[in-house]
Amino acid sequence: MKILVIHGPNLNMLGRREPEVYGRTTLDEIDAALRKRATAAGATILTVQSNHEGALIDFLHAEGWDADGVIINPGALTHYGLALRDALAMLKAPIIEVHLSNVYRREPFRHTSVVAPVATGQIAGLGWRGYLLALEWLLEEKRA
Ligand code: DQA
Repeated sequence: MKILVIHGPNLNMLGRREPEVYGRTTLDEIDAALRKRATAAGATILTVQSNHEGALIDFLHAEGWDADGVIINPGALTHYGLALRDALAMLKAPIIEVHLSNVYRREPFRHTSVVAPVATGQIAGLGWRGYLLALEWLLEEKRA
């Protein structure tokens, strides 16, 4: 089982970036927790972070076709990244959109996701544990 974990712009700054909003857990810690859980379940995780939409799209073109699941926090691309959305829409695998913060309690521009209509589901507001919950769901779904 191959799972892609995709982190969008500014998420490389987790730990330092507005910790009152996004928490103090770093991206490396999140990826390590995901990798540990995936390995225990016999799954492989490929992770990428980029501040450039095109780099995320290139990654999806290269790795998306045979993926069994995608966990993506598109960062601010969530709200306007139509090319990223189109790249996700090509995939057959289930896609879980994750947000550390509860975007619906924040500024109005964060209430719209252009990714949500092509995602299987969304987790928002549960901090870094949201990624692990997304992984748990994908593992269960594959077993079912
Ligand atoms: C975010 C929410 C987005 O609105 C924001 O631009 C981010 C992070 C989150 O994880 O809560 O970069 O996706």
